[in-house]
Amino acid sequence: MTEDNELFACQVSDFGAQNKKRISLGGRDIFIVKVSQQYYALDSFCYHAGGPLYNGDIEDFGGRTCMVCPWHKYKVCLNTGQNYYQSVDPHNLQKPPKWTAGDVRQRTHKVTVRDGSIYVKLSPLDGSLDSDHYNKHKDI
Ligand code: FES
Repeated sequence: MTEDNELFACQVSDFGAQNKKRISLGGRDIFIVKVSQQYYALDSFCYHAGGPLYNGDIEDFGGRTCMVCPWHKYKVCLNTGQNYYQSVDPHNLQKPPKWTAGDVRQRTHKVTVRDGSIYVKLSPLDGSLDSDHYNKHKDI
């Protein structure tokens, strides 16, 4: 652990051709995603019903990079943990739906890359986010 409570997660070279890595870190089950040389870390299980978010596809919706949960296709912004959905204007149904960011639902963690190593500062599992319910005692 570093002074900033960062934990060593893995090496950059561990990613190779794959862009996701699920790890156990500090007693937590998290995954790290690499998109365009940026790394993101989130708790592994989906805020909606505990699905394996780490197994989802990475897709862009309206300029936001999201994980698409394989169970019910909910979209989670990699950067913020917000749910992302298409909203309609009930007063004008002729308008096309637009992508909208909802509340933060999935816990994310701060990632730092230094000298070819990836460090993660875990955010506290304090029960304030929906995903905390499904990520309490999980460890791989
Ligand atoms: S469990 Fe992930 S969308 Fe339902």
